[in-house]
Amino acid sequence: MGGSGCGEVVPPGPRHIAIIMDGNGRWAARRGLPPSAGHKAGVERIRDLVSACRERAVEALTLFAFSSENWRRPPQEVELLMGLFHSYLRKEALRMSEEGVRLRVIGRRDRFSGRLQKAIAEAERITRDGERGNLVIAADYGGQWDMTQAARALAAEVASGQRTPDSITEQAVAAHLQLADLPPVDLLIRSSGEQRISNFILWQAAYSEFYFTPALWPDFGERELDAAIESFRARERRFGGRGDDSRLARMPDTKSFKQRRV
Ligand code: IPE
Ligand code: IPE
Ligand code: MG
Repeated sequence: MGGSGCGEVVPPGPRHIAIIMDGNGRWAARRGLPPSAGHKAGVERIRDLVSACRERAVEALTLFAFSSENWRRPPQEVELLMGLFHSYLRKEALRMSEEGVRLRVIGRRDRFSGRLQKAIAEAERITRDGERGNLVIAADYGGQWDMTQAARALAAEVASGQRTPDSITEQAVAAHLQLADLPPVDLLIRSSGEQRISNFILWQAAYSEFYFTPALWPDFGERELDAAIESFRARERRFGGRGDDSRLARMPDTKSFKQRRV
């Protein structure tokens, strides 16, 4: 991942990629292995992906590692995932700080063990001066939780007299959500062929481009990343407007509009 300094040519993007890393269980099942083998193989993809994003001038990479709903998994699987998260943080934080990658974890945190909470805080501390890119790990994260905590924070500000209800605009809500200080999520990728959001970034994905790939997460590498970026770059992002097409930019009169559509 890379920063964009003054005077640099602005790359075509995406500046911020978010990924729902799905398909570890199926990857393992196809090999006759337990889900744990898929999760272990899945974690191994992350290091290279972070480097690949840096090389492609992506400023932020947000990875969905564990959803608010993933606590419903069997206890042994949850325990394994927590263990993998802990060892990932312990192993990778130093490397990230050397590469100038700043790490942050988004999500509830208070349901993690004290040991894991400490490892998260330590990894964030070690990498805090990184200026060459951002890696965000969403763990015990849910889009509904994110909006709820923003609402709670805003309500507290109203209750304490810091703001009035009228001042709660879309910008004010956005500012209280996770990722507020990073570029908007341009590209949202989900692996494994599933085409749903599973309570990931709900507000922040309002104008993200979606990319679904059948590749299972442990098979997701540079080739899949480049295919997703290529697809993103070929799209016309209109944000509700008329886009770049000057023919479409002129509002048709009602008659010709009807003739063309019927
Ligand atoms: C994604 O892989 C990893 C997490 C949810 C933690 P899955 O474990 O959901 O893989 P599938 O969907 O069963 O293949
Ligand atoms: C979403 O995957 C969560 C993560 C990838 C971390 P799931 O596998 O948990 O999602 P569902 O249950 O299929 O919607
Ligand atoms: Mg899954």
